[in-house]
Amino acid sequence: MKLALLTLLFTAVSAFQPRSYVSRAPLATAPKTGTALRDAAADAFVPDMERRNIMNLILVSSAGATIAGLGGPFVAFFYPPGAGGGGGGVAAKDALGNDVTKAGWLATHQPGDHSLTQGLKGDATYLIVKEDKSIEEYGLNAVCTHLGCVVPWVASANKFMCPCHGSQYDFTGKVVRGPAPLSLALAHVSFSDTDVITYTPWTETDFRTDLKPWWI
Ligand code: FES
Repeated sequence: MKLALLTLLFTAVSAFQPRSYVSRAPLATAPKTGTALRDAAADAFVPDMERRNIMNLILVSSAGATIAGLGGPFVAFFYPPGAGGGGGGVAAKDALGNDVTKAGWLATHQPGDHSLTQGLKGDATYLIVKEDKSIEEYGLNAVCTHLGCVVPWVASANKFMCPCHGSQYDFTGKVVRGPAPLSLALAHVSFSDTDVITYTPWTETDFRTDLKPWWI
């Protein structure tokens, strides 16, 4: 991109240059009047075309580098941040910021457990242990779709119940009572070669609603 900017700017500046430069003839024999002396002085300080091009190139290079330096972050501002990690996936983190491993999690969490981990984009995400003591293939983003409170899991009601304005979500995170307008966001759960639990973006149809994911 820098090269393209430089080329564009150089072309623009060059367009304002004279096609050629013709040096005024020296007044070798004529007596140097005041006007002639001014002309001669001007000739002495006007660089030839090659030098002017070099000067322009230096000027444009400096300007281009500055524009590229300032423009890059400006353009990047309009791109949403990635989820982080290779392929858009991130390792699940526990409350201490350590990677969560499948074996470690199952050793300390019972069937039916819904506990929070840190997931995609740093969002609180429920990692669910199924009744067969395996880990659910999806994680649930715990951020309420109404105004963003973290929604607790209420085991006795088998629901997620938001304390802020009363929204409720069933055990799959599907909204069953407003004012929340949407279900909790999904993330895929997978396991790395080293047994670390990994979240990746859920881009397929939301299996709870048969609709496109609202969160992408
Ligand atoms: S933030 Fe959850 S119901 Fe309002």
